[in-house]
Amino acid sequence: MKRIALFVTTLACAICVMAEDGSRLWLRYERVQKAEVTGPECIAKEELRNYYAGEKANLVIDTSMPEDAYNISGSTITAKNEIGLMYGAYALLRGESGYSAPYWKLRILNHWDNLDGSIERGYAGKSIFWDPEKNEIGKEKRDLIKEYARANASIGINGTVLNNVNASPKMLSAPYIQQVKEIAAILRPYGIKVYLSVNFASPMALGKLKTADPLDKNVVAWWKAKAKEIYQQIPDFGGFLVKANSEGQPGPGDYHRTHAQGANMLADAVKPYGGIIMWRSFVYGANHKGEDRVKQAVSEFVNDDGKFRDNVILQSKNGPLDFQPREPYAPIFDNMHKTPQMAELQITQEYLGQSRHLVYLAPMWEEFFGFVRPQRLIGIAGVANIGLDKNWCGHHFSQANWYAFGRLAWNPLLSSEQIAREWLEETFGDKRLKEDSRLSTINHQLLDMMMRSREACVDYMMPLGLHHIFKFDHHYGPEPDGFIASYPLEWCPVYYHKADSLGVGFNRSHTGTDATSQYNEPYRSLYDDLSTCPEQYLLWFHHVPWTYRMKDGSTLWESLQKHYDHGVNEVEDFLRIWQNAKPYIDEQRWKETDERLHHQLENAREWRKVCLNYFGSFVSSHTSKE
Ligand code: GCU
Repeated sequence: MKRIALFVTTLACAICVMAEDGSRLWLRYERVQKAEVTGPECIAKEELRNYYAGEKANLVIDTSMPEDAYNISGSTITAKNEIGLMYGAYALLRGESGYSAPYWKLRILNHWDNLDGSIERGYAGKSIFWDPEKNEIGKEKRDLIKEYARANASIGINGTVLNNVNASPKMLSAPYIQQVKEIAAILRPYGIKVYLSVNFASPMALGKLKTADPLDKNVVAWWKAKAKEIYQQIPDFGGFLVKANSEGQPGPGDYHRTHAQGANMLADAVKPYGGIIMWRSFVYGANHKGEDRVKQAVSEFVNDDGKFRDNVILQSKNGPLDFQPREPYAPIFDNMHKTPQMAELQITQEYLGQSRHLVYLAPMWEEFFGFVRPQRLIGIAGVANIGLDKNWCGHHFSQANWYAFGRLAWNPLLSSEQIAREWLEETFGDKRLKEDSRLSTINHQLLDMMMRSREACVDYMMPLGLHHIFKFDHHYGPEPDGFIASYPLEWCPVYYHKADSLGVGFNRSHTGTDATSQYNEPYRSLYDDLSTCPEQYLLWFHHVPWTYRMKDGSTLWESLQKHYDHGVNEVEDFLRIWQNAKPYIDEQRWKETDERLHHQLENAREWRKVCLNYFGSFVSSHTSKE
């Protein structure tokens, strides 16, 4: 049942006011403790006893139900087991009714957390799992991890990779396995399995072997023994995530072995225990000198299709490059016909303003599912945006991206707008407010702001298919002129936009790098032809004259300027919306968000200025006046 209540209700809070620092996320239920709940003692029962506003609720086990599914009829929840009842309880608290089952079995967060406590591309403080000062899981950490588990369970996430894909071999050493065991014990009651990223050269670093060649019998034996050791401690351990032969990481390629040979060796080691291997396709560089980077994953993996064990899943980013504000979908999803695939989305906003910009990512993921239908995937992974910050995600609105990832992992057919509506109501709702007729306008504006925020970001950063013109390494501000001769070309912005006096954009059509040929029809033809290529991907696929006439009659150069202006204007409007919402939002969260919106505006203006100055320098005065 769809809820129609307002996000910000006028109900007065009868009990004491809790600090609104964002730490409670979307789980800001009022502790009413009035429901009588029948059924087995479990998390569902505890949650409903504490927070269900009705008088009575019933929990019923029906073993014929599918795993994780639930049915809500009135205040009766039916499910196969306690985990299904738990999902049902959170749904009931959200106001849902009826039957629901998750679309995918694998709904996994990927933490890029390092053992020293830092987080790669993390913008919300240090790791909630790893602290080099304390090599044990103390009470405080246990409580925090329990809160994390509860938040994930409330949105259906059922797996978590605890460490960075650029993995330290130490992760697999006995003291760390002991900590993983303790974390797994906290997560287990919430239906969450743990997985680990592994370094392919671990047998050398930890086992002192001379090689990590996947066909070497000592290497095979080392991994088998390691898997056994892990499963003895954690019988329901999920498996391994692997980044191999990419960005300097070791892999089977170091021994002239294929990805399939590497992945299968690991797959055989975890198979007896029901484990899986998630093998990443984000591989570029070494073997493909000179090849367009966006083509490299397909070139690298296409010959391995059909050669992987059945417990290997290929995990690919949604776009072929690297989590840009907008990319066309990654053609690897069109090219692997016999290999199960997972999509990797990035919740942490590495290239979308990090924890400083308000950018709601669900519309971007919805766009992706419009091209890569969910039925082509067997699971979904999201690179987490969670850290030790009080509000978990740095920006209060970045919590919406964690929330939306979970909701879409449960049901990718939900609309991004419905999810935003739900999240706003849960996160900013039931405040102590007086009746006010402006409330529904404010609610509408907040929703509108979230829904427009991703397109705004595309516009003020890199519209019309521009990509990767970020400042080197930290990926926050603009650097369209970025070029360092000693770096690989595919790390330099000038490689991606190819601006010159004639025009701008990367020719990936059949007259260029022919990346369009990696797509299935109708996209192959659509993208290949300048006249049919959607304008949002124009400069991704074509080198286009500055004087090219766009669909609205303006020249490309004029259109570029309009997009940058539009992006900045949008953020100005977001600030106005936020100002209007001030009376309806608690002080701390309002202020912190307001400060960030000001940063966002400043940064959006910087993007516009730097990019238009730079690109404008290629446009002759004659052309720019046309
Ligand atoms: C990006 C990101 C890296 C990360 C890599 C990956 O390049 O900037 O920090 O390690 O993706 O996904 O492996």
